[in-house]
Amino acid sequence: MLRLAILASGTGSNLQSILNAADRGILIGVEPVLVVVDRSCGALELASAAGIETVLLDRKLPGIGLSAELARLLDHRNIEMVALAGWLSILDGEITERWAGRMINIHPSLLPLHGGPGMYGRRVHRAVLDAGDRESGCSVHLVTQGVDEGKVLGQTRVPVIEGDTPESLAGRILIEEHKLYPQVIDGLAESLSCNLTPHNGSEM
Ligand code: GRF
Repeated sequence: MLRLAILASGTGSNLQSILNAADRGILIGVEPVLVVVDRSCGALELASAAGIETVLLDRKLPGIGLSAELARLLDHRNIEMVALAGWLSILDGEITERWAGRMINIHPSLLPLHGGPGMYGRRVHRAVLDAGDRESGCSVHLVTQGVDEGKVLGQTRVPVIEGDTPESLAGRILIEEHKLYPQVIDGLAESLSCNLTPHNGSEM
């Protein structure tokens, strides 16, 4: 099992769905061992209640910066895979490069549509409705330096219904996020476990 860190900034429902899947034995390729938050949030409370180690990194802390602090923490805890679940701080090129192929994110639209800097939460669903899209959904993708630009590993489509509001659409998509994310995490863990190259790129 790969040691998984989950990064969150919000309510934490995706975090909870990952922890639930692990508890039920559905998620077999990873062991969630660390939750990192960048602010006081619901995810922090959920992680503490679940008894998982939780670290709050102050996103405004001066010094080496959030990405470098995070990189140090992940190394220190021997983390092997990272899942962003509603994480809002932008990570720099150094950490995304170092974790390339082992760091993933979930986004509430059918990427490449409605992604990028500033596209999070209600704004995403508002953009879908304003564009008159007939469907939306959620995407799990590799994290790269370009926000929401990495390779898509899995998507679920959700129809847009007449009279939808950003909130109603977000709610239906979130239900699908909770199913999709654990599945994709497990799939990636399986493929990483078959690949004998460790994430720092050196030979084993
Ligand atoms: C989700 O919609 C996710 O796709 C996006 O942020 C939201 C986080 O929700 N990246 P939650 O904190 O997991 O409830």
